Amino acid sequence: MTVHVITLFPDVIDTYVAAGILARARGEGKLLVITWHLRDFATDKHQKVDDYPYGGGAGIILKPDVMARAIRRVLNSVKAGRRERTPVVLTTPHGRPFDNSVAREYSEQQEWIVVCGHYGGVDKRISETLVTDEVSIGDYVLMGGELAAAVMIEAASRFIPGVLGNHASAERDTFEDTLLGPPVYTRPAAFEGRGIPPELLTGNHLEIERWRRRQQLELTLKRRPDLLEKARLTDDDLRYLATLGYKKENLTLAPAKALKRSHSKVSQALK
Ligand code: 6GU
Repeated sequence: MTVHVITLFPDVIDTYVAAGILARARGEGKLLVITWHLRDFATDKHQKVDDYPYGGGAGIILKPDVMARAIRRVLNSVKAGRRERTPVVLTTPHGRPFDNSVAREYSEQQEWIVVCGHYGGVDKRISETLVTDEVSIGDYVLMGGELAAAVMIEAASRFIPGVLGNHASAERDTFEDTLLGPPVYTRPAAFEGRGIPPELLTGNHLEIERWRRRQQLELTLKRRPDLLEKARLTDDDLRYLATLGYKKENLTLAPAKALKRSHSKVSQALK
């Protein structure tokens, strides 16, 4: 998978993909990340990449001429037959929500291009012409698309065969069956007076899997009941959820008081 990133801050992307599992994937030739500095496509002597918005208002807007030159140059670096199928993804809070299924879609592309937006925005004529896909990573506003680009690259890379030590774990992970993941534990067995759930110590794989599934159902019901709507649930799951009082009609999101409670948890732990 090759990802091109057009950005005003190529160092941010280069540094991010130089660490950890992404670096290993690159070393193994499974991932190629090419950053393109938007400023290199400016033509005037000040290398101007942005300008004031027509009609007035706050912020500055990335200029369409510079951006178009950059995108065309990157597209030209893509093999001719593949060019038409290459996604050009603009990062913007107005985009379609990025999630694990979008990540998987991108991971199946041989090559894709991320255009990092900017807090003021990108001239609309760019998204009307050269952009194929507008994507948002969540309901908040970032100052630039660099973090969003890194998020998308990392989430997509996990689906490339062999990138995760154990490929099965990308499938089994949180959200792949749209349930939150089960809690995990490692040694030591006793930590500050807290032990390991006995189910995990039985060595009985069927029992362990059943315990994990029930933990997933409980956690998802508590924190993200909206996900239960999409989840593939078995009859066993539904019976268990019924014992927890799950009814499709009374879905509610996590209560706001959760934060306060964790503050008092932290003070406890520091004692
Ligand atoms: Cl993809 N870009 C920017 N600039 N802000 C965002 C975003 C993306 N997703 C949420 N906020």
